Amino acid sequence: MKDALGSVQTILVLGGASELGAAIAARLAGPRRATVLLAGRDREKLAGAADRIRAAGAGRVELVDFDATNTSDHEKFVSELPEMAGDIDVAILAFGLLGDQEVDENGGDGAVQVAATNYVGAVSVGLPLARLLRQQGHGTLVVLSSVAGERVRRANFIYGSSKAGLDGFAQGLGDSLAGTGARVLIVRPGFVHTKMTAGRPAVPFSTTPDAVAEATVRGLAHDQDIVWVPPVLRLVMAIARHLPRAVFRKLPA
Ligand SMILES: NC(=O)c1ccc[n+]([C@@H]2O[C@H](COP(=O)([O-])OP(=O)(O)OC[C@H]3O[C@@H](n4cnc5c(N)ncnc54)[C@H](OP(=O)(O)O)[C@@H]3O)[C@@H](O)[C@H]2O)c1
Repeated sequence: MKDALGSVQTILVLGGASELGAAIAARLAGPRRATVLLAGRDREKLAGAADRIRAAGAGRVELVDFDATNTSDHEKFVSELPEMAGDIDVAILAFGLLGDQEVDENGGDGAVQVAATNYVGAVSVGLPLARLLRQQGHGTLVVLSSVAGERVRRANFIYGSSKAGLDGFAQGLGDSLAGTGARVLIVRPGFVHTKMTAGRPAVPFSTTPDAVAEATVRGLAHDQDIVWVPPVLRLVMAIARHLPRAVFRKLPA
């Protein structure tokens, strides 16, 4: 099939059982019968995501072991990709932990797990992946950031700060790849109905995995640097970002 993304043949999803990662992979791989590598830590959950992606029309779906917090394995993991799958056209950083702010700020290792997964894990695997794409001379790293990192709120500052760090890292990484043929696409969704947010009250501008997938594929097709889902959040957050702290602090959680 020939389209703006006609050359996409191989897609890697890190955090392969992520609902958003799987939705993006399905939308991207289906029409192109592309190969998808789902990398994650739970084979059973990965197999469920694989079934959905195959049903969407993907050519081949492989499961690979990957843990975002096992940072000492990441260089090796990335170095084995070419033999496993050839060139990677799109790599999606979809792993993440929301944590429980109220519990985590009062002790235990939850806060560190959130930071270690969302920020440290992404830095650890993002750098060798970017080097791989640079060597290939093509390919896009899709980073699932969040509006939560655009202006960090008291109500979820552990998760929000991890996403702020991730987003800044992704911006700089994208700049470092300029002119190499490789790219970074940052996706900043608001509240999405997935298992990560299950049971939490929805907020205004809530959206769905399908909408995030559609916006991401459109962003890839148009070589965009940043995608907001839904797009109105770009405006909302531009205002929120400039509110005085004393006002921002009083906004409903
Ligand atoms: N849902 C939202 O409202 C929303 C909004 C903005 C941004 N995001 C971001 O979008 C990404 C995907 O979220 P989602 O909604 O699709 O959530 P999800 O379905 O809960 O997926 C998150 C995935 O991350 C994986 N993961 C967690 N820790 C890991 C680790 N150490 N190593 C490997 N994988 C690990 C989980 O794997 P297991 O299956 O093994 O637990 C899970 O499959 C996340 O980065 C999230 O922060 C989500």
